[in-house]
Amino acid sequence: LDYEVILLGAGQGKRMGASRNKILLHLIGKPVISYSLNTFFNDPACKHIILVTQEDEQDLLAAVVKKENKKKCPVTIVSGGSERQFSVFNGLKTLLDPKNIVMVHDGARPFVSLGQLKLLHRKVQETRAAILGVPVKDTIKRVVDGIVEETVPRETLWQVQTPQAFYGEDLLAAHARAQQEGYLGTDDASLIEKYSQFPVSMVLGSYENIKLTTPEDMLIGEAIVKRRRN
Ligand code: CTP
Ligand code: MG
Repeated sequence: LDYEVILLGAGQGKRMGASRNKILLHLIGKPVISYSLNTFFNDPACKHIILVTQEDEQDLLAAVVKKENKKKCPVTIVSGGSERQFSVFNGLKTLLDPKNIVMVHDGARPFVSLGQLKLLHRKVQETRAAILGVPVKDTIKRVVDGIVEETVPRETLWQVQTPQAFYGEDLLAAHARAQQEGYLGTDDASLIEKYSQFPVSMVLGSYENIKLTTPEDMLIGEAIVKRRRN
């Protein structure tokens, strides 16, 4: 079963502190968004890309898509909302078929690999919901008012990434429920965890699949691009 992807670019990139949306910043000659766009263009199982953008950046993004889309994969550009969750919901409404698998991916994560997409795609077909993540490396403590309350056992803690993969109808139902109840989750899996009966599977991703969030991340990103070129 092929999949459709919702690629998110409708944020503001406030923590990056740049003069424009971080997904349009250049990373060694290409806008950040074009890296993940190309990875999905290169996956034969990806049948439709739904690019969610701010209204006033649609023309800029359409130009990026035109430049990169050599295999002519269908791309739909839609407007986002004020929260990430609303941007995903807008994207979900343009799925070709809610029976399809849908992946949701942060446009600010340029380094997801084709191999990881394949692993995730296989897993979602077995379990209906699968996400990429990596075990937490640091010691994590719970701190209240500057005082350590607890060292949290690390064995079961994972850092969550995207893509996250579901069946379109499941994710649509979860988003509709969340909207009704005014619930805001921090990722898509959290809505499935809350409103669905089946478990979400964790697939081991890569520590390179970082989200470009603050200015230091751009330096790490440059290093990753340079190493991949060699
Ligand atoms: N995003 C979105 N719509 C929103 C908010 C975020 O499509 N209303 C997207 C971003 O473009 C990004 C991804 O969700 O690709 C992850 O969000 P985040 O890293 O928080 O990006 P921003 O919200 O843009 O950054 P910040 O929170 O620093 O403003
Ligand atoms: Mg944000």
